[in-house]
Amino acid sequence: MTNKELQALKERYVAAGAASPNEQFADHATNAELWDADGKRMIDFAGGIGVLNIGHRHPKVVEAVKAQLDKLMHTCQTVMPYEGYVKLAQKLSEVVPVKGHAKVLLANSGAEALENAMKIARAATGKTNVICFDGGYHGRTFYTMAMNGKAAPYQTDFGPMPGTVFRAPYPVP
Ligand SMILES: Cc1ncc(COP(=O)(O)O)c(C=O)c1O
Repeated sequence: MTNKELQALKERYVAAGAASPNEQFADHATNAELWDADGKRMIDFAGGIGVLNIGHRHPKVVEAVKAQLDKLMHTCQTVMPYEGYVKLAQKLSEVVPVKGHAKVLLANSGAEALENAMKIARAATGKTNVICFDGGYHGRTFYTMAMNGKAAPYQTDFGPMPGTVFRAPYPVP
């Protein structure tokens, strides 16, 4: 399908909350290059907003994903843990720049990670307030919406936000 055809389908079936100013649709990508549905080649400077640290489809990553799918697909680790979860936790714990022994919780998204960071901080300190930078973006769940520095469009139409968020100006305007 072409970019134009996909855009028409998107407008009809994808919820407005998942809006994008981009009317090009990714078809395939390798390393730092991406081709859209019309075959146009471009350099991918976004990388899924900074989450593809070694580019698209690195052969070792593809191999690891395939090996996992050949073994098992999903269990929900709180129901049935598995080796990959534990080994990744070990690896992250060894490289994370914090003092002392670190433990790891893997989350589905940035917003879920931040919501859980707030829960952990609240439980550990007994305090409820949080300081966030002006202009920062944290996500689309309720707490992260309140933490977003940019109120419009993230907080409009959704009623009261969690009220324990305080702002600090970012040091590099
Ligand atoms: C700095 C920052 N924090 C949090 C998030 C939220 O991540 P997610 O969309 O995975 O919930 C994003 C997403 O763009 C982000 O850029």
